[in-house]
Amino acid sequence: MATANQLKTLIKSHFEENNEKFNTVALQIAAHEAKLGHSNLANDIKQIIDNGKKTSPKLKPLNSELQGLVLEVESDKKLSDLIVPSEIKDRINRVIREFTHRNKLLSHNLENRRKILFSGPPGTGKTMSASIIANELHLPIYVILMDKVVTKYMGETSAKLRQIFDLIVDRPAVYLFDEFDAIGSQRGKDNDVGEMRRVLNSFLQFLERDNSESLIIAATNNLGMLDQALFRRFDDVIHYNLPSDEEKIQLLKSRLSKNVTSKDMKILLPMLENLSHAEINQACLDAIKESVLNNSDISLSLIEKTIKERTMAYKI
Ligand SMILES: Nc1ncnc2c1ncn2[C@@H]1O[C@H](COP(=O)(O)OP(=O)(O)O)[C@@H](O)[C@H]1O
Ligand SMILES: [Mg+2]
Repeated sequence: MATANQLKTLIKSHFEENNEKFNTVALQIAAHEAKLGHSNLANDIKQIIDNGKKTSPKLKPLNSELQGLVLEVESDKKLSDLIVPSEIKDRINRVIREFTHRNKLLSHNLENRRKILFSGPPGTGKTMSASIIANELHLPIYVILMDKVVTKYMGETSAKLRQIFDLIVDRPAVYLFDEFDAIGSQRGKDNDVGEMRRVLNSFLQFLERDNSESLIIAATNNLGMLDQALFRRFDDVIHYNLPSDEEKIQLLKSRLSKNVTSKDMKILLPMLENLSHAEINQACLDAIKESVLNNSDISLSLIEKTIKERTMAYKI
């Protein structure tokens, strides 16, 4: 049987509507059962999780002419799931707090922060943070597919952006312009940078004029492309970094809890050099999955193997 703690965490994660935690604990229970030799049960649990993932659609299309350009995404992440320096957490919390108390601020002629820029390397929690803000505020979150918004003709791109900014006024929500500076990079032409700047400028004009109640979040992996002057158009700019040693340990613990000792940590830490939060997270999930499939325990050597695989993937 699953341990008392596993059962409690499983039930809690259901009520917290935390799917990610639910899946992790369910996989841990499967691994535990496999270790006890109950391989049929372990496989059944794994099958249920896999089927569940298939049947729960993550994305809901929007009913309007914006279909295909804007997607409503379900969000189940909590601020406590985010592993970042406390300074970043405080600043995300401040966005949430100011939104919650926006009427109080308004009564003093003050506005809540609502135009936010997240920058930093891939896999450090930018998209996740936007999703957390929406979830904590019980707001829907819409992701704008900028590569679809951009057309060959600047006039059309502007018209589409205008429709999106109309929606931002009509439906208070969190709007995420994710990797918004990646526009044009798929086109592989010399004028990529020029085109990106044009779209960016158009976006910034709409952003500047926006006076809605929605939260507008832009995320970028590529700060180098952005002008310093651009930062002034946002109420807040939050920079993300690759995880510190402390964050790496927290990430391993949050996924593998009892399977890693402090001694293991010392061995694993140097192997995590240059890996992002997302990659470390993925290496842990790989180890959990493999232990389920092999009916084995999550050993140090298994974690070392999955981490090495992640590291190699980025060396090619
Ligand atoms: N700071 C973090 N703390 C905890 N988990 C993280 C963090 N950053 C990334 N992850 C994990 O990796 C996944 C992908 O991260 P994401 O937010 O999409 O990164 P980014 O948008 O910065 O490229 C997240 O859904 C989460 O599971
Ligand atoms: Mg992202």
